[in-house]
Amino acid sequence: MKNFQITIYGSTQAEIHPDIKRIAESIDYQTYDIEQMLEPLPRTPDVILCYPPNDEISSLELAQTLRSVYPETPLFFIAQDKKTFDKKRLIKNGFTQAFLLPWEKSDLVRAMNNEAICSMLPELRDYKAIKVADLQPGVVLDFALKVYLPRSNKLLHFSHEGDPISDEKFEKLKESNLNTLFVKKDEVEKFRAYTAKVLKDLMKPGALSETDKQDKLETCVRDLISDMFIEDNKENTFSASQSLLSEVKEIIEILVEDSNKDISGKVSNLINQEQNFYLHLSNVSTYAGLFAMVLGLPNAPEVALAGLLHDIGKINLPPEIADIPEAELNPTAKEAFKKHPEFSIDIIKLRRIMLPDAAIKAILQHHEAVNGTGYPKGLSGPKICKEARVLAIANAFDNLTSIHPGKYALTPRQALLHLLDENMTKSMELDLDMLKKLKDLFIK
Ligand SMILES: [Fe+2]
Repeated sequence: MKNFQITIYGSTQAEIHPDIKRIAESIDYQTYDIEQMLEPLPRTPDVILCYPPNDEISSLELAQTLRSVYPETPLFFIAQDKKTFDKKRLIKNGFTQAFLLPWEKSDLVRAMNNEAICSMLPELRDYKAIKVADLQPGVVLDFALKVYLPRSNKLLHFSHEGDPISDEKFEKLKESNLNTLFVKKDEVEKFRAYTAKVLKDLMKPGALSETDKQDKLETCVRDLISDMFIEDNKENTFSASQSLLSEVKEIIEILVEDSNKDISGKVSNLINQEQNFYLHLSNVSTYAGLFAMVLGLPNAPEVALAGLLHDIGKINLPPEIADIPEAELNPTAKEAFKKHPEFSIDIIKLRRIMLPDAAIKAILQHHEAVNGTGYPKGLSGPKICKEARVLAIANAFDNLTSIHPGKYALTPRQALLHLLDENMTKSMELDLDMLKKLKDLFIK
């Protein structure tokens, strides 16, 4: 079996993270000083990791130099100091991606995992993931589709060019919770033409396909949140905040657009993905917006807005606790963790983002529990605003329906039944009436 080759540039911090060591069966990694970056490597690695350089060279120079030496190799920058971390500039200057630890550890591990998969299955680099929700049963496709099987790490034939996808095949995809297929990159234009026609036939000309929505959402959320990482942002002016807010609103529009139709389809489209910082925020936002709509709340976009920003305060937690799951925190660390809803509001105010009152309240109260055991205030029952109760359900729902290391994702119905059972018999933290109504959305 081929080894996954990693080259690390950096001085004393150049220690490979234990979670990265676990992603591939055989990993080879060599560490070098930054000064050695112009010396030729024995062979081009699968990925290059870079830690912040010393004062003699800036991170941006490092990005430009490495990119010129390795035009094709994925270059990942890893930083731990959020004061100097400017993701957009790092990427603009040549890094493929930049990660701020510990907050973005799961994103780094996911990106490394993708590179490890591609090093074993280079063919995958020639394909683009598309959403099954964009395909219509019975319509002839002028492009071929493949399906990726993670356990055997294989890309298999799913349908030929000129074939329609039968109802049976759709059923099978549904049964196995598969919401992604793969189209060859040189056929992406054909796929786009197909989705444009489908949307036109559905009287939605010019609308975004589910695949494009997901792509746009991921970039928008990443840009937005990474702007918030920069503590001493010189651009922290009113106009910068206004443009941030309009970006947020644009995202929300994408999230809850025509949600009166096929809400269960929209939800199914998002489940069963590996969890990470950004995906969690965008998923919770979507679920919160959709659930609010189903439950008849008049301000669903405001609930979605709260969902997107509810946990942003975690970036103000001490780094040593940001990496630990809530259930494993010691009592002192737990007390610190409980401050994150208020920190979220602090950051929103610092960035001068004007949010509606309902969204502010929902963010502040998203960890309050109906039985009064929540935080920060220990509010109970109707004292917790409806928007926060929906947000708490969306949060729990995303944790159960996304993939976590060593755990299978539940289907939407399984997740809601689980939450109902748990909250009826044990914890009584979530709103039971809301859970009962939501359960009926998902028949299977
Ligand atoms: Fe939270």
